[in-house]
Amino acid sequence: MKKRVLTGINTTGIPHLGNYVGAIRPAIAAANRQAQGESFLFLADLHALIKCHDPETVHQSSLAIAATWLACGLDPEKVTLYRQSDIPEITELNWIFNCVCAKGLMNRAHAYKAAVDANNADNNADPDHGISMGLFCYPVLMAADILMFNATHVPVGRDQIQHLEMARDIAARFNHRYENLFVMPEAVVDDNVALLTGTDGRKMSKSYGNTIALFEPEKALRKQIMKIVTNSQAPGEPKNPDDSAIFDIYRAFAGAEEIAAMRRHYAEGISWGDAKQMLFERINTELSTPREIYHSLMAEPAKIEAVLQAGAEKARRESRAFLAQIRHAVGIRPLA
Ligand code: TRP
Repeated sequence: MKKRVLTGINTTGIPHLGNYVGAIRPAIAAANRQAQGESFLFLADLHALIKCHDPETVHQSSLAIAATWLACGLDPEKVTLYRQSDIPEITELNWIFNCVCAKGLMNRAHAYKAAVDANNADNNADPDHGISMGLFCYPVLMAADILMFNATHVPVGRDQIQHLEMARDIAARFNHRYENLFVMPEAVVDDNVALLTGTDGRKMSKSYGNTIALFEPEKALRKQIMKIVTNSQAPGEPKNPDDSAIFDIYRAFAGAEEIAAMRRHYAEGISWGDAKQMLFERINTELSTPREIYHSLMAEPAKIEAVLQAGAEKARRESRAFLAQIRHAVGIRPLA
């Protein structure tokens, strides 16, 4: 069976350094190693509506994420890059899957259960308070994203493993009830993927407010790096690199020799200010070219729109044909 890699990104924010190190950089490296036509990447803008009710944010985020991936070297000739909402076959398949998927399966989804638990903990009279059907059915739409293109490998974070199990469950039920049309997708979770440390020493995450934006102008990048929290050790005092957010972030950008040199600087008592400056310079070296590309792309959204439209056209060549088969299998067919 042909290997087909597919993944989606929710369009609810602007990419930060943690996204770059943990997802964007490794995914582009992997995609560019792969043969043409086997790698799919999409903007999950329909999923974004579940969490994000600000239209401007959803819109801007789609633009920023597409521009980021292109600026970081994603080759749209090799990778089919598209927007979920441009593929109407996905939303139709979502409905068909709604009619295949057991409600009980969705009751067991971690994200939904966590929301119910939070309501119960708040002593809310309604355990489903604030929970939309979109949130409840999130894994069904995700199954449609994946199965529409019969993806075999789906790179995701740990938190998404259950969603892949659910996609397999839905695929198996469909195959059993109707016709064997879907392949069983597998989650690919990279445990070695760098979880970047944020400016406060915790994992870099939007929800902690400790992120460093990926493509801020140089000055703003430097300012954010200077804000990284350190202990109060003075210049000249030997410092422990393994207990330092600065070193942790540096490691994600530097080569083995640079890392060893930085360890020596720590042992020799480099000042926090100098360590931050070195970190800034290292990151800036890696990001300055993609940053320029990013800003020029952001200034020409029509260019990105054209890339996405071309990607959608490529994707739909498959999804149209496959949906026709799926419709036929469930009994939705021309009368004559
Ligand atoms: N749910 C994924 C996340 O939060 C995003 C996503 C939507 C996705 N559809 C997908 C990932 C399909 C992989 C395949 O990260």
